[in-house]
Amino acid sequence: MKDLAGKHLVLTLTGGVACYKAAELCRLLTKAGATVQVVMSAAAEQFITPVTMQALSQLAVRTSQWDAQEPNAMAHINLTRAADAVLVAPCSADFIAKLAHGQADDLPSLLCLARPMDKVPLMLAPAMNREMWAHPATQRNLAQALADGATLLGIGSGEQACGEVGDGRMLEPQQILDAVIAFFQPKLLVGQHVLVTAGPTYEAIDPVRGITNLSSGKMGFAIARAAREAGAEVTLVAGPVHLPTPPGVHRVDVTSASNMLQAVMAQAQAATVFISTAAVADWRPEQAAEQKIKKDGSGQPPALRFVENPDILTTLAQSPRAQCGALFCVGFAAESHDLLANAQAKRQRKGVPLLVGNIGPATFGQDDNALLLVDAHVARELPRNDKLSLARELIADIALRISA
Ligand code: CTP
Repeated sequence: MKDLAGKHLVLTLTGGVACYKAAELCRLLTKAGATVQVVMSAAAEQFITPVTMQALSQLAVRTSQWDAQEPNAMAHINLTRAADAVLVAPCSADFIAKLAHGQADDLPSLLCLARPMDKVPLMLAPAMNREMWAHPATQRNLAQALADGATLLGIGSGEQACGEVGDGRMLEPQQILDAVIAFFQPKLLVGQHVLVTAGPTYEAIDPVRGITNLSSGKMGFAIARAAREAGAEVTLVAGPVHLPTPPGVHRVDVTSASNMLQAVMAQAQAATVFISTAAVADWRPEQAAEQKIKKDGSGQPPALRFVENPDILTTLAQSPRAQCGALFCVGFAAESHDLLANAQAKRQRKGVPLLVGNIGPATFGQDDNALLLVDAHVARELPRNDKLSLARELIADIALRISA
């Protein structure tokens, strides 16, 4: 199912160069399953035409409260009564000022004031010059708008259309889409601090080589994102992977299993849930050579000695906080066969209340997966799906367990 299926959004454009990005945003919102009613201020029409937005949204764009097509002549009321949210993107400094003061002198500001506040949330994606953004008047107005119930989706930073560099750029359309999707997720983990490990580890043999595995980190990153969407504080300890950090997630990059253990222990005291998704290397070379190991001409490979890595999950599961129930530990099992039997045995061996089994070769690097949730009593299958959907199901399952 698409992430915004069944949602009806009022996408409101106010004046700013970032209006050109609203076209892409509209496309992304509709592709995610939302119906989008576009409303534009007079200033927005200076930057992009309603024709473009109509073509993308497939609905006539509203620009005036005096629109004679509205049978009751009340466009500002009608627009929000069936809406699931109003999204202002780009949201200008002037529009934030209007919101703060309850002004209602054009259709965008009217509909924001006239929306039923308890049913129709208001989300803002501001866009303006960095000096305008930093101005105390803007910050004061924004604080007031947020105190009145608006949600700030975030602010971008970097090079601006005017050539200056700083805060005030509109978030990219994909970032806004992700924030809107996150907004609608059930807030099942508010007040929880979730610590997630993800990806492989890399155990150095010498400065240019090492041993690792095929884990891509996608499942762990999806879990971190789903936990954040559910309202938790999230720390993600990631092995060497090239994946973007999910919005709002605190990320700590590590290389080896020993690094990962250290990073996890540093965060564990604050955590209430630990999800050990990482494919931690079981062994490491006893001693990494300081210089590249060269061929010696004998035709014989070097004799490498391996030692076992610390078991991060077991270490945490045996910690006093886990033992007294303050830290809920969830393990993963990457198996190649006999998933149920191996997952059940591994859950007991690791001493965790919940273990998530998956077939490693069938999922490493893929965008989808199938999970088997094993606890002391039952096993529940989560059938093959994309990793983010599975991660959301897993988070809902964990939320239920820790609230019980
Ligand atoms: N794990 C860990 N530290 C390790 C090895 C594994 O924290 N040194 C965690 C993994 O993150 C996962 C769980 O233990 O949550 C099981 O990992 P897996 O690789 O499936 O199993 P192993 O413990 O390595 O056992 P085996 O290789 O015998 O299947």
